[in-house]
Amino acid sequence: MTLRTRITLLTLALLAFSLLLIGASVYGTLRGTHYNSLNNDLQSSSQTAISLIKDKGSLADLPSTVYGTALLIPPTIASPTVDDIMGGAAFLIPPSLAASNQNPLLGLSEKALNAVLQSGGIYTSTHLVQSDGHEVPLRVRAERVITEVAGFPLGLSQVILFVGKSVEPIEVLLRDFAQIYTATAMLVLLFGGLLAYRLVRRTLEPLEWVAKKAEQVSDKPDKLPELEGNNEVASLVRSLNRMLTRLETSWETQTRFLLDASHELRTPVTAILGHVGYLMRRTQLTPQQRESLEVVGRESERMRKLVGDLLELSQSGGWRVELGSVHLATVLYEIEEEYGRSFEGKIEVEAPDNIWALGDPERLHQVVANFVSNAIKAGSTRIRLVVRDLSERVVIRVEDNGEGIPAEHLPHLFERFYRVDKARDRERGGSGLGLAIVRSIVEAHGGSVWVESEPGKGSVFSVSLKRATAPQPELAG
Ligand SMILES: Nc1ncnc2c1ncn2[C@@H]1O[C@H](COP(=O)(O)OP(=O)(O)OP(=O)(O)O)[C@@H](O)[C@H]1O
Ligand SMILES: [Mg+2]
Repeated sequence: MTLRTRITLLTLALLAFSLLLIGASVYGTLRGTHYNSLNNDLQSSSQTAISLIKDKGSLADLPSTVYGTALLIPPTIASPTVDDIMGGAAFLIPPSLAASNQNPLLGLSEKALNAVLQSGGIYTSTHLVQSDGHEVPLRVRAERVITEVAGFPLGLSQVILFVGKSVEPIEVLLRDFAQIYTATAMLVLLFGGLLAYRLVRRTLEPLEWVAKKAEQVSDKPDKLPELEGNNEVASLVRSLNRMLTRLETSWETQTRFLLDASHELRTPVTAILGHVGYLMRRTQLTPQQRESLEVVGRESERMRKLVGDLLELSQSGGWRVELGSVHLATVLYEIEEEYGRSFEGKIEVEAPDNIWALGDPERLHQVVANFVSNAIKAGSTRIRLVVRDLSERVVIRVEDNGEGIPAEHLPHLFERFYRVDKARDRERGGSGLGLAIVRSIVEAHGGSVWVESEPGKGSVFSVSLKRATAPQPELAG
């Protein structure tokens, strides 16, 4: 998962959690306030109901929204029980209009009734089913009061009073709030998510830019353009640039050393070779002396090649490739001719006549020659030089049927001084610089080089280059 997605998801999760928390607390507060005020309403309705019982002996005059019923306990029962009331020992005082034809306990359970008898007064919630089947959720205040009852001449009596009000308006309000809040929260989440994604993208863009620039840093790195401001990315760029400066210095020191060392070595090697030649040609030598001088000559020749290669490599950062249209078939036929004479096997060329690549003919010649000399050293009997046309690019393949290269060596083959079998390859006259030079030449062309190989079957070295158009013939006159 990318950093961008992760930060966006985290922001979304935090936003969702906060919205949930806000929603829950607003809902809770809203509900609490409304139910509290309903309880207060019920208490004052209770007072009204008691006055009505005292004055009129009936609850019929209660407002139409109030459900009111009352049971008069006969004076013979001092402490009434649930059974007394359920058994019909109490008299029903005429109820309010809303509660007429309803259960006198307003749907209260026996347990709730018992609680009223025990504690004297409770608030509770019930449901009343009306005659039309509509179910009304009620908030009920039930209490036991001692009062005079009009039309009942026995002084103070015990009355169990039930006063209820519908909580439907509150529930509708709460439901509406929940629906609107959920829809709003979803929208906030959606926009929040989009905004977070864009913001994170904007914030991380400079980092991606730095990563891309750093990716492009080649052997000889250019500095990254410094960013304005004093943020983390700008300071990252500054640190990278300081690191690049140090790298550049060490790269330059290394190159200069290589250049100086190979220059210094060239003169003595040339002198040694000159003297060996002189001794061989101009002096009388015993067979042992001649043999020794031949060894000195051979090794010095090898040294001269090595020094030459090193010199080339040390300059490779600044290869002066002169890019132009190179006719690939010509290059390959030249190689065939050059190596065909001394090579005992067969060299075949398969190159369409109409393909040009963007390159430096001398350097491309050097690349293919390197592949062919490696193939010969690997004991090939058949070498194919092939050009493939890939519309935008062209690929040169050098296929051989030599001994092949074990897979574990393939990733290192283009490194300096890398040889598959040091002793064997040295014996064959190789120093392990050929392919390193090939790689730096191909890179200077903006191309790529790779190898496929199977031990025992052979190897294929390929170079991909930009395609070029045929050079325009110069108009006469
Ligand atoms: N076609 C091939 N078949 C088998 N092995 C190969 C082939 N080409 C290269 N190699 C292996 O890769 C090694 C590196 O090749 P490279 O051309 O860099 O060095 P070299 O040929 O040993 O020396 P130099 O080219 O400097 O004379 C060789 O030593 C050889 O072991
Ligand atoms: Mg080589």
